[in-house]
Amino acid sequence: MSDHLFNRQHPAVKDEDRDRRRPIITVEGLTKRFEKNVVLDGLDLEIFSGETIAILGGSGSGKSVLLSLLVGLMEPDAGRITIDGQNTATFSRSRQWRELRLKIGFLFQGSALYDSLTIAENIAFILEHQSKLTDREIRQRVHEKLRLVELEDVENKMPNELSGGMQKRAALARAIVFDPRIVFYDEPTTGLDPVRGKHISELIVRLQHELQMTSIVVTHDLICASLVADRIAMLHGGKFLFTGSRDELQQSKIPYVREFLDAATHRC
Ligand SMILES: Nc1ncnc2c1ncn2[C@@H]1O[C@H](COP(=O)(O)OP(=O)(O)OP(=O)(O)O)[C@@H](O)[C@H]1O
Ligand SMILES: [Mg+2]
Repeated sequence: MSDHLFNRQHPAVKDEDRDRRRPIITVEGLTKRFEKNVVLDGLDLEIFSGETIAILGGSGSGKSVLLSLLVGLMEPDAGRITIDGQNTATFSRSRQWRELRLKIGFLFQGSALYDSLTIAENIAFILEHQSKLTDREIRQRVHEKLRLVELEDVENKMPNELSGGMQKRAALARAIVFDPRIVFYDEPTTGLDPVRGKHISELIVRLQHELQMTSIVVTHDLICASLVADRIAMLHGGKFLFTGSRDELQQSKIPYVREFLDAATHRC
């Protein structure tokens, strides 16, 4: 890992803003097990409004499970999740989650575009079903979001006509089509070559600056985490072993953190 990635100045959260920051998501004692497999073992985390946090962890460490819990696709065995001041345990199953999900954009692991819909239809889908916008407004919104992710002239293409990187960007346009306050990204660079992976990471940073969202990026890609995040939390053995800045991560003496950084640096 080259030093410049860690030394890069990240302008998303200015020092003078720190005092004014408040947690938009709080996770307390979050536990999830599948029979004997304790995947998350009492996680505590505060995510601050306007920051980009990367949840870094190896395969199977529970990153996707954590995201599923945060958006109510799974229920925890113990612990509490508070989002935007609402304790999600008090939600009656569907309606309140539906309302909350309208504030949340989600980029799925794999792009999860609908194969039988065009790119424009994919992006417009949620607006057509969940908003009162007119057809013309929806078309404008789709065009605006595609431009934001640097995709031109793909409205009428089918997902399988796009490269993997273009599909990710289309999925990113879909994730932000509602102008969400919070965006979850599950492995945004997986399956992309290093150049395209870096491009997606830079796009996430740019969207963050332009749209001022709170972003949670789940990844095993150290370069992606280093490029996008104000803070990095490392998930291992059901716990956050480390939470801090890139620089602090690089200096960490925690054995698993060292092993992870060394392995990422010397990967073939
Ligand atoms: N629905 C489920 N039923 C049983 N076990 C599950 C279920 N979902 C996840 N798990 C288990 O939870 C653990 C964490 O899975 P998860 O998908 O969250 O990992 P991950 O960190 O996202 O990995 P990757 O980097 O490969 O995406 C794994 O052991 C997995 O087998
Ligand atoms: Mg996963």
